[in-house]
Amino acid sequence: MSVSRMLTGDRPTGRLHLGHYVGSIANRVALHQRYDSYFIIADLHMLTTRNSREDISRVAGNAREMVTDILACGVDPARATFYLQSAIPEVGELNTLFQNLVTVPRLERVPSVKEMATDAGREEIPYGLLGYPVLQAADILCVKGQVVPVGKDNAAHVEVTREIAPRFNHLYGEVFPVPEMIASATPTLVGTDGQGKMSKSRGNAIALSADPASVRRAVLGMYTDPNRVRADVPGTVEGNPVFAYHDVFNPDRTQVAGFKERYRAGRIGDVEVKEALAVALNRFLDPIRERRARIEGTPGLVDQLIVEGTERTREQVRATVVEVRRAMGLTAAYQQVRRRAERARKAAATPA
Ligand code: TRP
Repeated sequence: MSVSRMLTGDRPTGRLHLGHYVGSIANRVALHQRYDSYFIIADLHMLTTRNSREDISRVAGNAREMVTDILACGVDPARATFYLQSAIPEVGELNTLFQNLVTVPRLERVPSVKEMATDAGREEIPYGLLGYPVLQAADILCVKGQVVPVGKDNAAHVEVTREIAPRFNHLYGEVFPVPEMIASATPTLVGTDGQGKMSKSRGNAIALSADPASVRRAVLGMYTDPNRVRADVPGTVEGNPVFAYHDVFNPDRTQVAGFKERYRAGRIGDVEVKEALAVALNRFLDPIRERRARIEGTPGLVDQLIVEGTERTREQVRATVVEVRRAMGLTAAYQQVRRRAERARKAAATPA
């Protein structure tokens, strides 16, 4: 029996942060050995909201940083294929063909599409952004991905893939697997400001590559319980980001339970809880820092990995596109035209 294929990835918009780790990287690290694993660097998806020359000029650098972050978190480069989406133009062809397998109202119901437009400061949704989930279906199906581990934001996109695949198969014959989504078990990580999810553009993120002093500074500046003006005022633990982080990143459960009890009773200051969180976070990040230093110690390693991965993936995608064109009858259509042209040419060449 062959191993199932896994595909997931990110837009190359900058360094990854703790929210990415919780939402999807942890899952990838845990799962990637079990599958034939593909990681997309989704620069075409980035273009749906950021398409200036300047944005595009940062793709190569961001791609290298992002892949470095993922490897630093513990993905084994020998067990994963990283590739740059825009270097595989055949993905665009699948996207074009899949666009006819989903309706506009269906895409308008995908909540993240509107959110991404708002986040990008756009009142109206660009055509490409509406099609974001379709392009994602092309990514997943171009390598016949069977397993897609994603964070919450992307669940609705994978749903669209799960509709497109059987629709294609029904119309043209069995070509694609219907991929399974693996959702992250951990709730979305709130930002350091306590105002919604962690996001670099909102300035409430802690990067996986942050140095110990920056981590401590970010933690000491975190939003806590606004009603708590002094350490002897009973505080609220629920919805308090400092405790949300302790829950996720502090393995010392006894310490965390003790903090919560004293916090509720008004017998501990915010600073003590925060200092302990900074220590826990830095302990969590230390092995990631060590791996990053090792990766960066071999110049060219990550770039070579991306190039090899892109070549390998492109071969797969080309094969898929040949299969798709055959199944749809597009190959036959052009063959027919060519045969007719050939016959006409021969007829014209034959003296009457
Ligand atoms: N949409 C993902 C993001 O939020 C990136 C992505 C593009 C992706 N194609 C994918 C994820 C295919 C999983 C599978 O950045």
